[in-house]
Amino acid sequence: MKHLRTLEDLSIEQLEKILYEANKMEKKLFASSDRKTVANLFFEPSTRTKCSFEMAQKELGLHTLHFDVDSSSVQKGETLYDTVKTLESIGVEAVVIRHPQKAYYKELENINIPIINAGDGAGDHPTQSLLDLLTIQQEFLVFQGLHVVICGDIRHSRVARTNANILRKLGAKVSFAGPAEWMDEDITLGNVISMDEAVKSADVMMMLRIQTERHDSGEGWTKETYHEEFGLTLRREKVMKKNAIILHPAPVNRDVELASELVECSRSRIFKQMRNGVLVRKAVLAFALNMMEVKKYERVI
Ligand code: CP
Repeated sequence: MKHLRTLEDLSIEQLEKILYEANKMEKKLFASSDRKTVANLFFEPSTRTKCSFEMAQKELGLHTLHFDVDSSSVQKGETLYDTVKTLESIGVEAVVIRHPQKAYYKELENINIPIINAGDGAGDHPTQSLLDLLTIQQEFLVFQGLHVVICGDIRHSRVARTNANILRKLGAKVSFAGPAEWMDEDITLGNVISMDEAVKSADVMMMLRIQTERHDSGEGWTKETYHEEFGLTLRREKVMKKNAIILHPAPVNRDVELASELVECSRSRIFKQMRNGVLVRKAVLAFALNMMEVKKYERVI
């Protein structure tokens, strides 16, 4: 693996290796003598992805170059390509980029250092998907035969697109629930069900944040009416299968897509997802920077 722009950059075997290594990352120690330098470029707000990449870099013994978009020459009109080429020229060995432009990485074909996508507009979010997969795998061991329902703002969600593709490849059944105007036939492939059907049959309820920043106008409902019609309410949680779990990439709009009391309920794996985010990002960085050569791994999917 050189870049991680979408999960298409990984074979299924490489993806399995990343999940396998991520599972062991909690206990694995890295020497800080070989300090490589990584720059994190966040052109959109982030708490989890940015902080967990920083934490992953710290735990790997890497050096993180502080790059603040607002005080950089981006403000003078410097292009993304020229910014990344500059960082490569001064000795940065990998870049982590979140950018509002879908597929921004197509501009970076001539960059030689690894590019790790931390979210491109409504495009992809590959490390979020890897941490979701790790969380599901820790719970159910296999993906084959699981029913995952992705709920809410599908059209504007890079998490929905990335997860739907990879979960299908891994053998899960993927369905969708939410407002008809936020469905996207390219992603849903006709597998749309109601929230009331979803809660009865899902092994994983993957709730999504309503992405108001990507909407053109108001959508004609209040938080309360959305919650009642499309949210995971306390009433709906009660009919979920015994071992079913709740995921959400966060940040959560409490009492909109998910009842506030369910954020930390026994089914919720939301905070587990966050720690898993550090583990998969450690594994991705370690592979991208050739910090570990995995000679042997067990097939776990
Ligand atoms: N889940 C996620 O990408 O969160 P942030 O936007 O806070 O990074």
